[in-house]
Amino acid sequence: MIKVKNLSKRYDKNIVLDNLNFQVDTGCIYGIVGTNGVGKTTFLRILAGLSKPDNGEIYIDNINRVGNKSNKKISFVPDSASLYEYLSGEEYLLFFASILDVPKELRKDKVSYLIDLFNLTSAKDELIKTYSHGMKQKVSIASALLNDPDILLLDEPLTGIDLINSHIIRQHIKKFVKADKTVILTTHLLELAHSLCDKIGILHKGKIVEEFSTNKLSLDSIEKRITSVYLGENSGEMMSK
Ligand SMILES: Nc1ncnc2c1ncn2[C@@H]1O[C@H](COP(=O)(O)OP(=O)(O)OP(=O)(O)O)[C@@H](O)[C@H]1O
Ligand SMILES: [Mg+2]
Repeated sequence: MIKVKNLSKRYDKNIVLDNLNFQVDTGCIYGIVGTNGVGKTTFLRILAGLSKPDNGEIYIDNINRVGNKSNKKISFVPDSASLYEYLSGEEYLLFFASILDVPKELRKDKVSYLIDLFNLTSAKDELIKTYSHGMKQKVSIASALLNDPDILLLDEPLTGIDLINSHIIRQHIKKFVKADKTVILTTHLLELAHSLCDKIGILHKGKIVEEFSTNKLSLDSIEKRITSVYLGENSGEMMSK
């Protein structure tokens, strides 16, 4: 279980996260939605340990992650991956496996499993600089899976990904959490969030202001609730224009 207590982060006078509280059970896919610049990436980067909060605690299975090493493996996939463009997809994944300390004897098998899983076989020997956005995104997600993380943090994983590849990635995320893992992702694609996530939380003014179980609310009703949070009392008027 991941539990976040009173997390705050500001950049100068810009208060991005403001005493944010949040909880995700193991085995859950949690989607965070929110307007541009609301703090979704900031929050994921803090969870990943890439950025320090000003205040607050993050407990992963009851161990405070802030200032401590977690005994759980956490992988973060940024929204636009910066990969080594002069390596081939396969070379990059093998290199990344060594950085992640994947045992040497397992690296080749893991890499070829992921290349196959993400339909990258025909391009595996091509330089990454020749890959499309979606192909780079798949390499980035594959690299995050090399060390079998317990927690996968995905920043807008399916933006700009075609239907087939989106299906492949979604299937994999669903399979991933069945093994008692946890996924937290951010997205602007509400339909995706509804079909893929168990829970959706709205980040607004530094806090998770509402949370829904997707099996209890229809996409339509979630959309209405989100719109009313974003636009406040004027939402009905704005939507009818
Ligand atoms: N390194 C930084 N220095 C200063 N301000 C920053 C920095 N990183 C983020 N911010 C600010 O923090 C706020 C939240 O940014 P963040 O990238 O987390 O938003 P987001 O919800 O991920 O937006 P988007 O939907 O556009 O990806 C923004 O106001 C942004 O300008
Ligand atoms: Mg972002």
